Amino acid sequence: MADFQLFIDGAFCDAESGETFDTIDPSTGESLGTVAKADRADAARAVAAARVAFDDGRWSAKRASERAGVLKAVAKGVKDRAGELAEWETRDTGATVVKAKAADVGGAMFWFRTMAEFAPLLDEPEALPQTMAPGPSYNYLQRDPVGVCSAIIPWNFPLQMAAWKISMALAAGNTIVLKPAPQTPVTATLLAEILRDAGVPDGVVNIVPGPGPGAGEELVSNAGVDRVSFTGSTEVGKQVMRMAAGTVKTTTLELGGKSAQVLLDDADLELAIDGILYGIFFHAGQVCTAGSRLLVGDALHDEVVERLVARAADIRVGRAGDRGVTMGPLISARQLETVLGYIDVGAKEGATLATGGEQLTADGLDAGFFVAPTIFSDVTPDMRIAREEIFGPVLSVLRYSDTDDAVRIANDTSYGLAGAVWGSPSKAQRVASRLQAGTVWVNDYHLLNPKYPFGGYKQSGVGREHGLLGLLEYTEAKHVHVAIDQSRASKRWFDMTVPQA
Ligand code: NAI
Ligand code: MG
Repeated sequence: MADFQLFIDGAFCDAESGETFDTIDPSTGESLGTVAKADRADAARAVAAARVAFDDGRWSAKRASERAGVLKAVAKGVKDRAGELAEWETRDTGATVVKAKAADVGGAMFWFRTMAEFAPLLDEPEALPQTMAPGPSYNYLQRDPVGVCSAIIPWNFPLQMAAWKISMALAAGNTIVLKPAPQTPVTATLLAEILRDAGVPDGVVNIVPGPGPGAGEELVSNAGVDRVSFTGSTEVGKQVMRMAAGTVKTTTLELGGKSAQVLLDDADLELAIDGILYGIFFHAGQVCTAGSRLLVGDALHDEVVERLVARAADIRVGRAGDRGVTMGPLISARQLETVLGYIDVGAKEGATLATGGEQLTADGLDAGFFVAPTIFSDVTPDMRIAREEIFGPVLSVLRYSDTDDAVRIANDTSYGLAGAVWGSPSKAQRVASRLQAGTVWVNDYHLLNPKYPFGGYKQSGVGREHGLLGLLEYTEAKHVHVAIDQSRASKRWFDMTVPQA
């Protein structure tokens, strides 16, 4: 029996093949236990369970206010097991203790609670404009659940993203099959227990950790799935879109980014320096919204680079669970190799390495996957380190000449997920309005909130998650027309029986 099992139709089980894989602690490289390895057959079984659970109405036919009660109980369950969840998230994913507690566990609670508040809004049909011609009618919009949802999530915020997808799917009355990333499956299986204990009926949520090419592809192509929600790399996102096309599934994609932080000359530098560092180095840069490009005007450039480098020296890199550590490891040996590869590319392209640039190995860190906070200056917009998502602790600093130039450079990217402007609010807000990105923070960074929509312009994604806008994407919109006048004479049909003039 695997230490961490699949959760299908309300029961924990091993994979049909009996195969398992190890999940490791990226701070130490050590195994944390075995995980049942879902393959296509397991994913298909989970979809079948979700299909039956949806079709018989055990969840979808409940009033939204009743579903909200269960979601609140889930939030309470997360709260009751917060310590245990945070500890596992730290070990399984390399999240610092603060990140695990506040962002992962705190975020999970926040999403379940907020979606519980939003759910009852779906019970009230939305009145549409009245029409008198050709006859009087009453019109309204009813929101139906889409059906069986599948969700595929990455390894950077596993508990929080599981909570995003599950809370929205359930609030709207859907059933769901979720595939965590193979690097970080643990907290999703704990969440399965919490959901069960909170009263989510069997089959309504199913969890199948396993590799993308097997279980993942099944979840995207299976005809029993109505809607796919994917978060991960742009490359796989493109494949997901193609596979989902086979049965015309509604698809939302939340993909990569190369988000710009625009520093204006009137910014409060004391605040901005720390904010910029948080924007790039939070979770070692493994964040889809990471502010990996800093745009600085010529006048401030040298001072800002100097201050960033000095302040970056205060970042405490180490094993995620250790006291005082503010930046943990990368997720895997592969990600370490990718990030070091990009650092090499940056140097070869002619950027100046202002700080960092190496793997950290002292004091036993060589067993994990640690990279020093790295800052490149003299980066130009054509360089790969200015264009490609690195997904590690690497900041590229670019110069701009004036505000128009800053906006042009910021938007000169195939991505458009997020960004920030640091400066006086009135000026910064004008620049923010010109950025092509789904979320822009003014004098802040990395604040996602279940109340506000989130998603990407351009190749950063399709659709929105969160907020009422995101929740509505988990529904089908049904227009209902009720004729008020029931007399035959009032009907100006293109009549089949009345001879035409
Ligand atoms: P990935 O896109 O391969 O993995 C994300 C999820 O997709 C995982 O659950 C994976 O098992 C699944 N998956 C992989 N191939 C699949 C397929 N053919 N069909 C269905 N599901 C599939 O990302 P990976 O390889 O872990 O990271 C590579 C790069 O992707 C990172 O360096 C980063 O640039 C980007 N990334 C972006 C994320 C974001 O939050 N937007 C999160 C993780 C990675
Ligand atoms: Mg792990």
